Amino acid sequence: MGCSLLLCSCLVALFIPIQAIVDINVATANDIHNNLNRTTSPCTNFWNFACGRFSSTSEYVDNFERVEDQFASAMVEFMASHLGENDTLAPRLIRQMRQYYKACTEDTRKLHGNPRLEELVNQWTLHPKKFLVYGLNGVFIDKRVDVAANDSMRWVIQLRMPDPTDRYSDRRVLQLMRLYEEAWYTRGVVELVEKMHQLQDKYRAENPVVHTWSYSELRQEIPIPHSFFIELLGVNDTEELDHLTFEVSDVEYLRECFRFLRDFASEPKDTYIRARQYVLVEESEPRERNPRSCIHHMRAYLPLGMNYIYDRFIYQNRKEDTSRVLEILSTLKAAFGKYLDANRLQLTPNQLAYVRAKLECIQIKIGNLPEEKSSEFYNNHYGSANFSATNFLANLLEALALRTRLQNAGLLVRNSQVDLRHYYVNDNVRKARTSPFYENERNTITVPMEFLQWPLFDHREHTIFQHSLLGAVLGHEMNHAFEQEGILFDAAGNESPVGLEIRESQPFRDAIKCAEKQPFVSLKERLADLNGLQLAYDAFFGLAHDSRQFEYRPYAFEREFTAPQLFHLSYAQFFCGSLPPVIAHDRDDERVNVSVGNLRQFAYDFNCETSPSSDCEMWRPGEEANSNRNVHP
Ligand SMILES: *[C@@H]1O[C@H](CO)[C@@H](O)[C@H](O)[C@H]1NC(C)=O
Ligand SMILES: *[C@@H]1O[C@H](CO)[C@@H](O)[C@H](O)[C@H]1NC(C)=O
Ligand SMILES: *[C@@H]1O[C@H](CO)[C@@H](O)[C@H](O)[C@H]1NC(C)=O
Ligand SMILES: *[C@@H]1O[C@H](CO)[C@@H](O)[C@H](O)[C@H]1NC(C)=O
Ligand SMILES: *[C@@H]1O[C@H](CO)[C@@H](O)[C@H](O)[C@H]1NC(C)=O
Ligand SMILES: *[C@@H]1O[C@H](CO)[C@@H](O)[C@H](O)[C@H]1NC(C)=O
Ligand SMILES: [Zn+2]
Repeated sequence: MGCSLLLCSCLVALFIPIQAIVDINVATANDIHNNLNRTTSPCTNFWNFACGRFSSTSEYVDNFERVEDQFASAMVEFMASHLGENDTLAPRLIRQMRQYYKACTEDTRKLHGNPRLEELVNQWTLHPKKFLVYGLNGVFIDKRVDVAANDSMRWVIQLRMPDPTDRYSDRRVLQLMRLYEEAWYTRGVVELVEKMHQLQDKYRAENPVVHTWSYSELRQEIPIPHSFFIELLGVNDTEELDHLTFEVSDVEYLRECFRFLRDFASEPKDTYIRARQYVLVEESEPRERNPRSCIHHMRAYLPLGMNYIYDRFIYQNRKEDTSRVLEILSTLKAAFGKYLDANRLQLTPNQLAYVRAKLECIQIKIGNLPEEKSSEFYNNHYGSANFSATNFLANLLEALALRTRLQNAGLLVRNSQVDLRHYYVNDNVRKARTSPFYENERNTITVPMEFLQWPLFDHREHTIFQHSLLGAVLGHEMNHAFEQEGILFDAAGNESPVGLEIRESQPFRDAIKCAEKQPFVSLKERLADLNGLQLAYDAFFGLAHDSRQFEYRPYAFEREFTAPQLFHLSYAQFFCGSLPPVIAHDRDDERVNVSVGNLRQFAYDFNCETSPSSDCEMWRPGEEANSNRNVHP
């Protein structure tokens, strides 16, 4: 067995065109060199040094747009072809996706920038009571299907007050109302919207209490109409509803909100709901409809269909990519394991065992697709949706309703048990994820297939490029498992008192205090950034690497920079681009500069005169710990 494996890999090695291996590394190094802005020193503003010329040399906003564009080109080609037309595995799914695409690219009717009020009021045939069925969320109440905090294998319905971002949609509704003639309704809608905002402002709390209730308990506590749930779940059976678990926050708000609604005139209420539905469609349709924008739209709204097609007909390197990605993950896990040996946070044996078990269990998934392989599953998954090849807006409503139906489906199976074989991420995004993401409840990192394209990743690249870019991204995602929110979830994704104990311990709190010293948008993102880069660096160079002691310059494809310098530059490519504000993360230049500024080796790697002012390290063993180990091995 061992012998034949060896033979195989030799044969493969013989047939790999060597030129290609050299080329991809030369190309990557060239790309990095083209982005350099040498007017800045790497020591004063590293982002500008590494990325400063990106926007003047690239036609893309950033490298994400570049790989998304490659994905879209390939999918446009597929859609325009006859591939899969007589497919034996999932012909219906493929036909549905083509119909949706055809209507999206050929039907020119659109809502955006062109409000047609007669349509809003008369032709918009949705019954206002059905708004939840059509994916309209955040009107009066925010409803999500998620898993229970203490049981990651059980679906629950979470209810809370709408998110403040829903106010953009309300503002658009009020704009539409100004164009609308029936003054009486309009006044009613304005009054309703103002009242809701007022109630939300009054009751919004930093960390609201979450109540776990059965259906009857919920109905006792909050005057939500029974019809709300009948419409939502398509069942009219209290017994069935009583199997559901609700996690409810903002209870005072919900109580007062539904009391108010009960007594409010129904015409303006219905007009408001119709208008919000209209705004939802307007916000969901692509701004400009063309082949590429339709592909991007479909990635977000029909993820299973798009990923299935890409995976089967376009994606070439699943096997090679998977083995490289798993290898990177295992070196990251090994480095984190060494951190735990040093136990900088002085965890108790029980706490250490908790963190080790969690580390061990982190899974990785290439592409947001379920484990299930049967053609029946894929072919029927969108079976309840009726897409036409001629009416895009009707299709969009179908897609929104389909997404909601699929989200709710798990609630009605026995005990609302999560079916892991069929699980994939299907949430209410408007833009599909391209970057890897971590889910606490699944203890899983998903790497979208979009991401696994050059210049972000190529399986033929030298490991220094892979470990610095994808490695640091995976390091970031892994560290979400161990930041102040993620640490609460155990290896199986259930909230655990041991996690809480760790979070409350003094060394953990001190580590967080350090990271808080520099301004941030989101603390957990900051922690994941700092710890992720440190972990990726240590995983590649070994713990306590010191470039003052020897020079590491081993590469034929890179003459100018040493290995650690190249590592930092390649890492920064993830963040290169023009600089609009990024939601939920800090701006890219800050992210890069703060991350390298907290990696104690960075200053040595670039021979910076002043050592950086801040070295926030959390899990990583301190410098003293390492030097002690060197003296007394
Ligand atoms: C990052 O850039 C900021 C200016 O935008 C600068 O103040 C900071 O020193 C830089 N840090 C590093 C490590 O490059
Ligand atoms: C390089 O950075 C400097 C500021 O440090 C900036 O003024 C200049 O425009 C940048 N060069 C390019 C080509 O973007
Ligand atoms: C699919 O089948 C139809 C009818 O038999 C045929 O006309 C068509 O060429 C086939 N398409 C492909 C791509 O083979
Ligand atoms: C989860 O929490 C709820 C409410 O606190 C409780 O009723 C239930 O028994 C818990 N389930 C588990 C598996 O611990
Ligand atoms: C639900 O069932 C009740 C009694 O069985 C009935 O009165 C009511 O009309 C039903 N509601 C809907 C929306 O089907
Ligand atoms: C599907 O939609 C078309 C028009 O878009 C309609 O004529 C047809 O009846 C619908 N079929 C089903 C099963 O709803
Ligand atoms: Zn993150």
